Amino acid sequence: MSTFHQLKFLESITLESNESDIERKVVLPLLRILGYSDNDWKSQVGIGKNRADFLVHPPSMLVHHPPYLVIEVKAPNKKTSQSFWQITEYMRQSRAVLGLLTNGYLFHLFYHCQGQVITIAEYSQSTLAENFALVHKLLSKATCLKVRDVLHHNQQQVYLKFANLISNAFGSKEMLKLFAKKPELINQSSKKERKPMIITVFNNKGGVGKTTLTINLAAMLTKLGKRVLLIDIDAQANLTTGLGIDPLNDVELASKKDITHLLLEPRTKLIDVIYRKRWGEIQLDIVPSHIRLSGMENELLRTIDIDRVLVKKLKNHEYDFVFIDPPPSFGKVNGISLMASSGILIPVQLSPYPIRALEYVINQVREVEEYKDEPLPILGVAVSMYDQRSSSFNLSMEESLREILVRHSDGRAIELLPENTWMPRLNIISKCPEQGYPIQHAEFDDQLSSQDRETAQSAIARLENLANHLMSVI
Ligand SMILES: Nc1ncnc2c1ncn2[C@@H]1O[C@H](COP(=O)(O)OP(=O)(O)OP(=O)(O)O)[C@@H](O)[C@H]1O
Ligand SMILES: [Mg+2]
Repeated sequence: MSTFHQLKFLESITLESNESDIERKVVLPLLRILGYSDNDWKSQVGIGKNRADFLVHPPSMLVHHPPYLVIEVKAPNKKTSQSFWQITEYMRQSRAVLGLLTNGYLFHLFYHCQGQVITIAEYSQSTLAENFALVHKLLSKATCLKVRDVLHHNQQQVYLKFANLISNAFGSKEMLKLFAKKPELINQSSKKERKPMIITVFNNKGGVGKTTLTINLAAMLTKLGKRVLLIDIDAQANLTTGLGIDPLNDVELASKKDITHLLLEPRTKLIDVIYRKRWGEIQLDIVPSHIRLSGMENELLRTIDIDRVLVKKLKNHEYDFVFIDPPPSFGKVNGISLMASSGILIPVQLSPYPIRALEYVINQVREVEEYKDEPLPILGVAVSMYDQRSSSFNLSMEESLREILVRHSDGRAIELLPENTWMPRLNIISKCPEQGYPIQHAEFDDQLSSQDRETAQSAIARLENLANHLMSVI
């Protein structure tokens, strides 16, 4: 979407607007564009004796960290320069990294470091629009989460070093007892944090939306600051082409390698087969597929320990999430994918055949689990392509679905993911593979109608719910 469209809400401001108009008509839309959801910020937060208008501080299970952004709002007829002291004070007291002061016409950006607050930039409405890509990058939730990850990591390192230093220096048993656990805890938690989740989006039924869900969920996770790798292990190569990569021209003729090399060449490493794509703030690494894979079943069967080939090749890497997109039929590559996975996500449509097929899918997962060293949890069943108009039909399908999940729970409940994560059948979603981008990028495509872009936003909100839910389950 062009900046003009994105910031259209600024036109609703007049000199007669009051402070609460600016909050509703400027700040709230701005926070949404920056990727924040409603629970990422609080309004009217007490700081000292005063109240800051907005404190942007996405919830975190990590150690205490400062808020990312304070926003102070004034009415358009007020001079912003008279409030510099106020935002400076809020930033110092809350230790927020960034500050924004606005009266709807002027926008002042501040940066805070160790008690010093400096002005970064001052914009009018039009210069804000001109520089919005930069402002977006600085203030967005994705950047906020990245900053937080780095701060958290560094803080852990400092605590660890400090604890070792003290226990070495004081050497007494009491002291060692006190610190013996902490470095260990810190080590464990940093290891835990780094443990990647390898997820196969799995369903033997064809065309249930596996590839589409994989692409869009992965893009959402990168927007939330996670590093994500996609592995296309389906000879149809829908994931590869759906992200605008031509397996012949972009990979084979460009002398690059694909999934077939990774599976069949012992010396080919993961890093040798990665293709990087970027759309604005979304960055996805992809192991592309090739139609050649369809003729390789015999070769795969002849290869020693082929079931664990992906397990081995995925041992060392830097990703938080790896998603594997397998074909629908249950051939060798499906076994390879499941063996390499640490969790399974099952997309399902709310209609009779896909629901019935679910029993078979669950049994397949459980069967493969028998051969693995670690459990293979089903992280959830995600509803895809449901018809928003037939609510009574959906309700009866949901009942059958729940009944199957209970019947197959096997002591471990299989969760039907919450309704706010269900993906409706939407035209705009089916258009994205042709354009070669994830749905999140549709928002920025000026060629689309404004209706399509709006619908895309509703789908993106559901994907954000799904990504957050998945992270909480994990
Ligand atoms: N929510 C949706 N709304 C509209 N169309 C969708 C949606 N999800 C997927 N589609 C479309 O449905 C078709 C099948 O989707 P997709 O390729 O993701 O399924 P799949 O399970 O990966 O298929 P296969 O089993 O062949 O690998 C595609 O044309 C895709 O664009
Ligand atoms: Mg597919």
